[in-house]
Amino acid sequence: MAQGPEEGGPRSVSIIIPTYQEADSLPSMIDRLEGLRSVGWDLELLIVDDDSNDGTIEMIEARGCDWIRLIVRREDRGLSTAVIHGLTEAKHEIMVVMDADLSHPPEAIPEFVSALDNGADFVVGSRYVPGGSTEDGWGVLRWINSKVATVMARPFTRVKDPMSGFLGLRRETWQSAADLDPVGYKIGLELIVKCRCQNVVEVPIHFSTRRHGESKLTLKVQRDYLRHILRLARWKYPERSSFVPFAVVGAMGIGVYVALLAILESLFGRFIGNDLVIVLAIALTMCFNFFLDRKLAFWWAPQDQTGRQLLSFIVICSIPVIANFFVTRYFIVDDEMATPLAGVIGAAVASILSLFFNWGCSRIFVFSPRR
Ligand code: GDD
Ligand code: MN
Repeated sequence: MAQGPEEGGPRSVSIIIPTYQEADSLPSMIDRLEGLRSVGWDLELLIVDDDSNDGTIEMIEARGCDWIRLIVRREDRGLSTAVIHGLTEAKHEIMVVMDADLSHPPEAIPEFVSALDNGADFVVGSRYVPGGSTEDGWGVLRWINSKVATVMARPFTRVKDPMSGFLGLRRETWQSAADLDPVGYKIGLELIVKCRCQNVVEVPIHFSTRRHGESKLTLKVQRDYLRHILRLARWKYPERSSFVPFAVVGAMGIGVYVALLAILESLFGRFIGNDLVIVLAIALTMCFNFFLDRKLAFWWAPQDQTGRQLLSFIVICSIPVIANFFVTRYFIVDDEMATPLAGVIGAAVASILSLFFNWGCSRIFVFSPRR
């Protein structure tokens, strides 16, 4: 561990601020960081701007500070990739990420650093721990939004404010990040999960409402968040994320099968006979399950190669169906105790067994997982 000066004393820290059209907020942000420098802190400020074209470049040039680096990106865009870019470029062992709009108080940075010194592997500035607060003026909608998003992050971390973008971490933690996939806005959550952080400390902050410009929280951001949560689930709990959709699609398949039976029967029953109607309904249901399963339960599988996959999928799913047929016949013919209840129980047991059988075999033989 880096041996810094005495606890709470001045240290070297890289601060990463992603910006998009924050020329009005940045000057006061920089002034407040100057406050830390004036008591001896060695700061490097990396501003990662996505070509805002709002005078940010001129303003930074005019200030002429050698501790500030402005990185203007013209190709890539997006908050999370901007943060990753900044982390990659940062030179100090301790790195802090924060918003430009003064929502996050820079005065909390020393507390971040002490938390890291005392064994935290990740620090977030938190509104939801004792001492933390949110400035009034958040509309009900934004509040609900934030709460719902926070609850959805629960399966991945116990952190009370996983939505926070005020983050602190050591370089070695950052370098341990596996498979970063920054689709969303919430790079903090991504890092906590992908760096497998065990000891996340929440430093209480007062979250201020921005004074200049507007929030970039749009509908697209919210949709991206849902995609982000889905990807995190698939990354952290790959089996469950595959089995649960498979079970749901299976249940839907029962409905599809029943409906198909009725429709096909009434349309073609007279011409092709009931046996063929049943076979047709089963085949169509299997196709329905195949395409949904490939997309939702076996998302890693190549989405072409349909012929080979479909064929092996049907073979696998047929095994329990055929087995069930013979077992049922055996009991009905030879066992006079076979009542409707026994039939229902038998069907339920068979469905559950075949659920696991179909899922496991599809996984191994049809859509073998990567890695
Ligand atoms: N480079 C870059 N590119 N920066 C961006 C982009 C982008 O596409 N979009 C937003 N930013 C920057 C903003 O300029 C600001 O500095 C910071 O990212 C956060 O953006 P805001 O628009 O102020 O976000 P917010 O207030 O809605 O959202 C914040 O909500 C959390 C709490 O709910 C998050 O950003 C968190 O940081 C915050 O703690
Ligand atoms: Mn903001």
